[in-house]
Amino acid sequence: MRTQVAIIGAGPAGLLLGQLLHQAGIDSVILERRSHDYVLSRIRAGVLEQGTVGLLDKVGASSRLHAEGLSHDGFDLLFGQKRHRIALDRLTGGKHVTIYGQTEVTRDLMDQRAAQNGKTVFEAGDVALHDFGGTSPFVTYVEDGITRRLDCDVIAGCDGYHGVSRASVPASALDIFERIYPFGWLGVLADVPPVSHELIYARGERGFALCSMRSGTRSRYYIQCDQGERVDAWSDERFWDELRRRLDPASAEALVTGPSIEKSIAPLRSFVAEPMRFGRLFLAGDAAHIVPPTGAKGLNLAASDVHYLFEALTEFFVERSQAGIDAYSQRALARVWKAERFSWWLTSLMHVFPEQSPFEQRIQQAELDYLVSSQHAMAALAENYVGLPY
Ligand code: APR
Ligand code: PHB
Repeated sequence: MRTQVAIIGAGPAGLLLGQLLHQAGIDSVILERRSHDYVLSRIRAGVLEQGTVGLLDKVGASSRLHAEGLSHDGFDLLFGQKRHRIALDRLTGGKHVTIYGQTEVTRDLMDQRAAQNGKTVFEAGDVALHDFGGTSPFVTYVEDGITRRLDCDVIAGCDGYHGVSRASVPASALDIFERIYPFGWLGVLADVPPVSHELIYARGERGFALCSMRSGTRSRYYIQCDQGERVDAWSDERFWDELRRRLDPASAEALVTGPSIEKSIAPLRSFVAEPMRFGRLFLAGDAAHIVPPTGAKGLNLAASDVHYLFEALTEFFVERSQAGIDAYSQRALARVWKAERFSWWLTSLMHVFPEQSPFEQRIQQAELDYLVSSQHAMAALAENYVGLPY
């Protein structure tokens, strides 16, 4: 089999790239390790920047998003038992974010690709990348027990942090930058109405908490937990009690609890692999970088990487110019590092660090007090939260 672009991974990055390429008349095949249903079973954050929504609009996969997504023009920071609203629209000249689960974004893109007869191989085993240092790369994989070969002009590694694409690059060719945080997030999904109509990012003496949502009837809550924490040590009751302790009295009182339909612990790390291009192999999304979820940048960075990669591949295939692919890594990394900075900053501001000195505690408190007392500081937070320009 032959295609112009072999895409590894049917997550948001791979699927969005596939749809952009399709629209430009550039052929692609997606090779996905997991089944269709497994990919759609993943629970992921869903705060979409306007740029991400714009890309979904561009490929015509946003009608359900506009019908069901929630437009948010602010969120609360809660500390010292007091809630402070960050008015995104006022601080950014009218920008907002859209609350719409990543799972739904993935579903919409998958459905559209299938409707357009885009080629996606699910449960593709033993995917292996070959000769991406030359001009005739190819990918091998196992489908229904048969080893197959996909010849291509370009490979897009959209296979996430644990994927095969970055792992196929010699370690000597990669520069890795990483920070692992001394805590995780214990998350619960429940079919209960959200405690507030907007998100609440809370920093209490006992740790961070986040009150989020998927809709008006489905809520998503997180509490900071120790790195070694085990999910089975947390009954629903214990989770709801701890969440209440990290909220102000009014919010704790208003909290509607119920049985969890999903409960999991996620580690927090900042990670960047440089560069993002190796000959005819291009990394995009979590394959190249990871952010702590505090700033809700993971999906949105995957989208901006794909925007830059799509522009580069269009120049390569349509205009026969190498300029775009030569500039891809530098362009993408410029925005990646700004989002890494923001995610690290908000994580550092809102979490309790186990080894924190009394001085560091006072500095963290002063940072919060300054932030909510300065329009300039809040504007800086807001412009990063809604998404910096591409
Ligand atoms: N071969 C084929 N597919 C693979 C392989 C492999 N060896 N390894 C991983 N995959 C698939 C995964 O099953 C997954 O469906 O690649 C896809 C990668 O998707 P994501 O991990 O969602 O990464 P990305 O598309 O970059 O989206 C980033 O997703 O995980 C969240 O927090 C993350 O919001 C961010 C977003
Ligand atoms: C979520 O709804 O899962 C979510 C929202 C905002 C974040 C992180 C996660 O910053």
